[in-house]
Amino acid sequence: MLHGLIRNMCGIVGHVSGGASLRSQEVVMGGLARLEYRGYDSAGIAALGNELQVRKAVGKLQNLRALLKAEPLAPMSAAIGHTRWATHGTPTTTNAHPHTAGHLALVHNGIIENADALRVKLHSEGATFVSETDTEVAAHLINSLYEADGENDTLVAAGGADTQSPAAARLARALLTAMRQLEGTFTLLVIHEDAPGVIVAARRSSPLVLGIGEGENFLGSDVLAFAEHTDKAVEIGQDELAIVTAENIIVTDKDGQVAQPKYYQINFQTEAADKAGWPTFMEKEIAEQPRAIADTLADRFDATGHLALDELRIPAELLRTIDKIVVVGCGTAAYAGQVARYAIEHWCRIPVEVELAHEFRYRDPVVTEKTLVVAISQSGETMDTIMAIRHAREQGARVLAIVNTPGSTISRESDAVLLTHAGREIAVASTKAFTAQLAACYLLGLYLAQVRGNKYIDEIEDYMQKLGEIPAKVQSVLAGAESVRQVARTLAEESSVYFLGRHVGFPVAMEGALKLKEIAYIHAEGFAAGELKHGPIALIDEGVVVVFVVPTPRRPELHAKVLSNIAEVKARGARVFCVAEEGDQAAAELAEAVFAVPPAPTLYLPLLTVVPLQILACEVAKTRGLDVDQPRNLAKSVTVE
Ligand code: M6R
Repeated sequence: MLHGLIRNMCGIVGHVSGGASLRSQEVVMGGLARLEYRGYDSAGIAALGNELQVRKAVGKLQNLRALLKAEPLAPMSAAIGHTRWATHGTPTTTNAHPHTAGHLALVHNGIIENADALRVKLHSEGATFVSETDTEVAAHLINSLYEADGENDTLVAAGGADTQSPAAARLARALLTAMRQLEGTFTLLVIHEDAPGVIVAARRSSPLVLGIGEGENFLGSDVLAFAEHTDKAVEIGQDELAIVTAENIIVTDKDGQVAQPKYYQINFQTEAADKAGWPTFMEKEIAEQPRAIADTLADRFDATGHLALDELRIPAELLRTIDKIVVVGCGTAAYAGQVARYAIEHWCRIPVEVELAHEFRYRDPVVTEKTLVVAISQSGETMDTIMAIRHAREQGARVLAIVNTPGSTISRESDAVLLTHAGREIAVASTKAFTAQLAACYLLGLYLAQVRGNKYIDEIEDYMQKLGEIPAKVQSVLAGAESVRQVARTLAEESSVYFLGRHVGFPVAMEGALKLKEIAYIHAEGFAAGELKHGPIALIDEGVVVVFVVPTPRRPELHAKVLSNIAEVKARGARVFCVAEEGDQAAAELAEAVFAVPPAPTLYLPLLTVVPLQILACEVAKTRGLDVDQPRNLAKSVTVE
């Protein structure tokens, strides 16, 4: 058994209706569908009818739906659900949540770090474990504390007896005591047969929000779980516990003392999670890029004609003192940061470092009060990025977040937020979030150039005007996408594809490779074209596919070098495809096919050149018959380190 190693990031939903109906099942299944971005290895639901009922299925949510049809649940007063992404061990029905012990069931998001020690202790006391998970340990611990309740009279009567059944208060006391023994991170939702119509929940370093309804209440890993039902929410703080019934929510601190709930309004567009006629979400989201970029750039000037980033809460005086910028992010967000480096250094003359968020704090980076850390994240929930910004703030740095999800953990924990307005991104492969992140990075660079006096107001206007022309240019790339799809269909059987770029084309090449890996499962690598002869050229052989991101011919010093690289791989038998500016004859003569993009300033070209690479990966994956939106082994949001 892999004791303690079965970890999860997962999505959690809970609903209390009080009466006996299938409403909780509907809400929980709907919430899980919205949270499937957090994982889809397995899913499960536990409900309080006359007795505790549990259904679990391996694989995507549709399997759980099918199981619920085959084995329907009886009407219920409350239900909890879970969608899981395991990092160790096979996703099995036994390892899927909810886990049960005695007459209770729970779902968990996080990692119980001392699960092994607790398991040994609980086992010696008679507990029998059936799964490999740390979560089952928490279930047995809470159950044993529940059973032993009464022997331990030091526990505070959580919540006040007038609003709780005695069983609910007893369950809350068991969970509070368990929290003192559990090490690691967790959000736990617990139900017990003795306490119909009640969910007891707690969190430590893992997200939990409550939604307030009329005669019903909701719980979720994030507001997406229930935002279609209510816009009133309660934030649950670190080490807080909540006792939730259909009519009431009681929040306590870790000692069981009743705390004032922190109410807030959900300011979140829950756009319909439908494909609007597109075969996949990824295709829909690729097509939404002109709007995502335009919305991110919209309304950014004040009455005096100055660029104004209203949501930036860092005063201009402070931004003038910044002597270094460190951009942190993961995956696609980190590539957006790499593009940002070229723009910000060029416009603002501030040194910019770009670091993968998970590497940042381990190298003991030099970060001071004069460092601006820019955290880029679509979800705002990526744990590696959260840990990086916490480390940066501990060192005194200011953190500015570029996020697509208002109210997310990263936006809440940062000093300032610059929102991208890409709308909800559902496909695991990031597309419109990337181009919206680039747009936000350009805005930030130009804003810094303005407040620090590196550029005059008319220069900023000129840059902004050219940026404003980009959405229409993206639209024209989309209109010409059929040629990309045709090539893609011929690449479905390739075993390796290389992507090469120079200058801002280098991060685009890496992004193109990432897209192909993650959704088409084809080995792909992105290299700096200049690096080719330092090693990677040894990989080039007859028929190997190489995709070049060619710089504009208007930058001859870059363009000529990439043409030489193309000649070098062609001389070794490579099949060459180019993303190049319209009218680039030299590239057209060398390549088997050119994916043309309209002319644009060099620094803005990534907004255009990445689009054919997204379409290429998507079409290759479709040709291979793969699930484009939910590729194997991945989750939309990586909420564990
Ligand atoms: O939500 P975030 O932007 O923080 O996510 C970061 C990465 O996990 C994400 O970009 C990932 O690399 C995408 N699946 C790439 O398409």
